[in-house]
Order: sequence, then structure tokens, then C-alpha cells
Amino acid sequence: MKRILVIGSGGREHAIVWALRNTSPVPVKLFCVPGNAGIGQLAQLVNVSVNDQASLARFAEANSIDLTFVGPEAPLTAGIVEAFEAERLPIVGPTAAAARLEGSKIFAKDFMARHGIPTAVYRVADSPAQAIELLRSGEFGDADSPVVIKADGLAAGKGVVVAATRAEAEKAIDDLMVQHVAGEDAAGRVVIEEALAGTEASLLLFSDGRDYALMPAARDHKRIGDNDTGPNTGGMGSITDASVLDQATLGRAVREIVEPTLIGARDEGFPFKGVLFLGLMLTAAGPKLLEYNVRFGDPETQAILIRLKTDLSAVFESMHSGTLGRLRLDWAEGASACVVAANRGYPGKYDSGAEIEGLDDVDMTRVQVFHAGTSLAPNGRFIATGGRVLGLTAAAENLPAALELCYGALQTVHWPGIQFRTDIGRSPRI
Ligand code: AMP
Ligand code: GLY
Repeated sequence: MKRILVIGSGGREHAIVWALRNTSPVPVKLFCVPGNAGIGQLAQLVNVSVNDQASLARFAEANSIDLTFVGPEAPLTAGIVEAFEAERLPIVGPTAAAARLEGSKIFAKDFMARHGIPTAVYRVADSPAQAIELLRSGEFGDADSPVVIKADGLAAGKGVVVAATRAEAEKAIDDLMVQHVAGEDAAGRVVIEEALAGTEASLLLFSDGRDYALMPAARDHKRIGDNDTGPNTGGMGSITDASVLDQATLGRAVREIVEPTLIGARDEGFPFKGVLFLGLMLTAAGPKLLEYNVRFGDPETQAILIRLKTDLSAVFESMHSGTLGRLRLDWAEGASACVVAANRGYPGKYDSGAEIEGLDDVDMTRVQVFHAGTSLAPNGRFIATGGRVLGLTAAAENLPAALELCYGALQTVHWPGIQFRTDIGRSPRI
């Protein structure tokens, strides 16, 4: 029996583990580090830190793991792929050199510039004084033009500020570079860039370093409140639907963004192996690249993988062995949605500890409940412990039908203090 190890603990990893099990024609033995209570229903949980490379390698070796797959970015930028490969342990993911596409915003922007990939006009500042000078130079318009400030390093979602005015931008520079709100190391340098207008789309692909396979384009909803109000979150919902990226725009994104990226990475000596996430802004002048992630997105993955019909372990194996070009990926026709249920207070300080009711009444043949922040009580019931708690996820013949399934399940799944957006897939802006 194949033995697969998944690293990570969120809704994204639950969806990966579920898809590995659901798409495999034969039984597979799954392990997850550290996982969560929902993942524990499908995989053996392993209590090791995702950042402890030596212990992870020892576990993979001792348990004859056939393939390891990494969910979050931190282990990738820290070089877990090289660490495993040095010990001949099979792992699929980008090397630390390739993971710089996510790990350093400056590296990513300079890479886009070198390869003529359409993106927002930008400048790099090495100090708060230089950043303020750039802002005041007029290069990014006048005091009322929006501008975007990005910390260079990994900042767990806190490193990007879209500032509507110069006063906000100057505050963001102080927050990031002086107060270090995104961490000590993330913002020694910042990117300042023009704010692009348009709708966003997430385009993900599998790559083996030579060939690639696109996934259905997705869209996530980042703000906590309906109609895209309130603070940003890790993501309150996602959809896949043909309307996210029309064929002509997709073709352009492939020609102008996807292929130059993969060819550029190979030419620069770091062929990209793994899952690549392109965060696109669909502007009046065509698709532009906002950012790379070197991993699956959360909660895009939940909505994407629920439509996968091809054996995911075979996809991972072909990425590892460089034979992706021979595999044809099949996706369920139609659309999908994931609606995140969070605890009251999230994304600030949130409530925690209520027992979740109604999970047994969800029709698991139509709706999957991916866990992000739950724990198991001694009585066998799930407790809502995290900020984001569950992702109710469904595929159907069209988007309204998929949404109806997700929101239908939310009529039975309940706990005191549950909050979710009621406009996933319908919100005018993202
Ligand atoms: P990033 O981590 O670079 O994707 O930035 C996070 C979010 O900030 C994106 O998903 C966008 O919503 C927004 N954003 C980033 N860069 C820009 C830009 N140049 N113009 C407008 N919005 C942006
Ligand atoms: N949903 C965006 C991300 O995973 O970064």
C-alpha cells in the first residue's frame, strides 16, 4: 500500500488528504504532520513541528514514506525539499531557490521584470526614509492616488497594505519598517507599487520542472464581511467557475505569465517543481501578476480539489518523476464553492471552545466539511477552536447549485458564535 505524508494543518491540508483518499483507486496509507482533528479521521497524525526538518526526515525514513507533500510555504522556503533529497527521501515541492518566488517579494518582482511578465510598476526601498522619499517623488501619482506597500519577506498575510492615500501609505511604512508589525525580519526592505484596479483570480498549476497542468481557475474572498467589508482574513470562501477567467484571458495569462515564469525559472537554474499559484489582477489592459505562491492556496484548494477526478497521488508521483506530460488530468464539469465558517471575533481575538452541532446531518455524498481549526472532545464531538473552523465545500453542475449545497449545510452545522459570509460567489468585488 502506498504511504504518503502530508505536511500542514489547515483546511487546505484536509482537502489534500481527502483528495488523496478520494481519488485513489486503491487504498492508501496517509500520514499528516501535525494535521488537525478533521484530518485525523482520514490520516494518522504525527506530532512533529512542520519546521523541524531533521525530525520530519527521520519520520519519513522510519515509516518508509513513498512520497511527502508540503502544504505551507515556510518549510519550502527553509529548504525542506533539499533536506529530504539529500537523504534520498522522495518529496515533491519547490527547492528553496524556487520558493524565493514567494519568500521574497523583491526577488519575485525583479524576476517578473527580467522576464517581461506583466505586473504593477514598482520600486524597492531599503529604508523608511527612502520609502517616504519615493512616495513623495510623484512617481506613484499625487497624495490621493492609491499605492501598495509590501514587506519583502514572508509575513503570514500581514505584509501587504493597499493604501488609499499617501497618509495611509506613510503609516504603513512606519508600521512595517519601524514598528515591525509583520515581524522583525520581513520588512527590512519594502516594495512600493502602483495599485491595480480589476477583479482578482487565482490560477494554480502542477509542474514537474518541464511540463505543467493547469487547475480550474479560482477566486477567494479575503475580507471578513459581506460585500467585501472589514479587515482581511486568511480567506472566507472560494469558488471555481468558468466565469472566473474567460478563455481569451486564460490564454493570455498562459502566454504572458505562466509560460514565461516556468521557462524563466528553468533558464535561471531553478526549474519549478511543485504547485505554483499565480495571483492575477484582471485589469482593463489584460491580466497582470500580483504575486506568486509556491504552494496550494487556502481556501482555493478546497474548491479546486473537490473537482479533481484523476488520482492525486499519481499527479504527485508524476511531478516527482518528471512525467507529468504523460498524465491527463480530469476535473468534474461545472463549478464548486467553499464557504468558511469562523469563530466570532476572527480575524481579531476570537471565541473558542464551543461544541459544533449538526455535522452528522450533512449529506457527505454532496458536501465535504474540511476542518481548519477544530479539536476532538473526549465525547467524540468536534470543538470549534481556531479562528477559521470549517470549510463547507461542494461541487455541482453550476455555481448557484454548488453554493446552495454549501449554504444548505450551514443550516444544520452550528455552534454559538459561528460567523460566515452570506455572499460567497456572489459578491461584486473580491
Ligand atoms: P499579495 O500578497 O502580493 O497577493 O497581496 C495581497 C493582496 O493585496 C492581493 O491579493 C490583492 O488583493 C492586494 N494587492 C496586492 N498588490 C496589489 C496591487 N498592485 N494593486 C492592487 N491590489 C493589490
Ligand atoms: N488564498 C490565498 C493564499 O492562500 O495565499
